[in-house]
Amino acid sequence: MFHLQKATQVTSGSDEASMLRWLAAQYPYPPVPTSPPCLPRPYIRANFVSSVDGAVTHDGKSGDLGGPGDRAVFRALRGLADVVMVGARTAVAEGYRQPSPDAVFTELRTQAEQTPAPALALLSRTLSIPADYPPLTNPDTVVLTCRNAPEDQRRAFTDLGVTLVDCGEEEVDPTIVADVCAERGWRRVLCEGGPTLFGSLITADLVDELCLTTSPHLVAGNASRIAHDLATNVMRPMRTATVLTDDDGFVYTRWVRGGQDLDTVH
Ligand SMILES: NC(=O)c1ccc[n+]([C@@H]2O[C@H](COP(=O)([O-])OP(=O)(O)OC[C@H]3O[C@@H](n4cnc5c(N)ncnc54)[C@H](OP(=O)(O)O)[C@@H]3O)[C@@H](O)[C@H]2O)c1
Repeated sequence: MFHLQKATQVTSGSDEASMLRWLAAQYPYPPVPTSPPCLPRPYIRANFVSSVDGAVTHDGKSGDLGGPGDRAVFRALRGLADVVMVGARTAVAEGYRQPSPDAVFTELRTQAEQTPAPALALLSRTLSIPADYPPLTNPDTVVLTCRNAPEDQRRAFTDLGVTLVDCGEEEVDPTIVADVCAERGWRRVLCEGGPTLFGSLITADLVDELCLTTSPHLVAGNASRIAHDLATNVMRPMRTATVLTDDDGFVYTRWVRGGQDLDTVH
């Protein structure tokens, strides 16, 4: 059975704050943001932008693929999140900074008993992040790493006052990452990539939702797609929850966990 999906047009005429709040309402976390609702595990949402032909970057960064609508979705999703989780390579490549409070979402966050801005969780197994990377020493940033991360780097980071949290022995175990988020009260997790981190979350079956912006461009080249993990061959069912378009030809889809699972981990 086919359905003609009628997309909702995001009108660009309204003022920015109400447009952002309207957008946030299209991307609700579940009322009990845990997965499944009976367990304390957080609800993990990922957000990516991709070209029509599946490229996650152009010239090594995602910025060229974005547009005003995509940036508004990015901002609205941060406005709803308890923590932004990101792989070390993305954080450094994209020049990530600590998320700051967004006045548009102050009231919403107060009502939801959230901190003024989401925390930042950086994943790194090797602690390859440059020591002068600004968010490292921010009290609202944590580095999720593993016990066998290089000792000299661990010491250097500890001396700098970086908050290191071990999530495994040899690797950063995504399941332990989820548990650490729950322990810290981060139930609304927003993973902003990149593809390696997202791939490991898919493999561990921790992805509850994908917010995917399709940028109206063809890129070719050798860019990655939004997820990869060479070690596994899983297939997780998802279903569409929201489809939006904008005046610039971008398509915004929200996908949530579907039913049957074809899990063929090698
Ligand atoms: N289009 C988009 O929406 C979008 C979004 C995000 C990123 N990007 C692009 O994607 C590129 C970076 O992506 P990437 O795939 O190379 O790297 P990534 O996923 O951002 O980061 C991978 C790094 O995360 C660390 N890590 C620790 N534990 C991990 C785990 N359990 N699973 C996976 N990674 C773990 C490792 O750091 P260590 O090496 O320090 O151990 C690993 O090298 C950049 O070019 C960025 O611009 C695009």
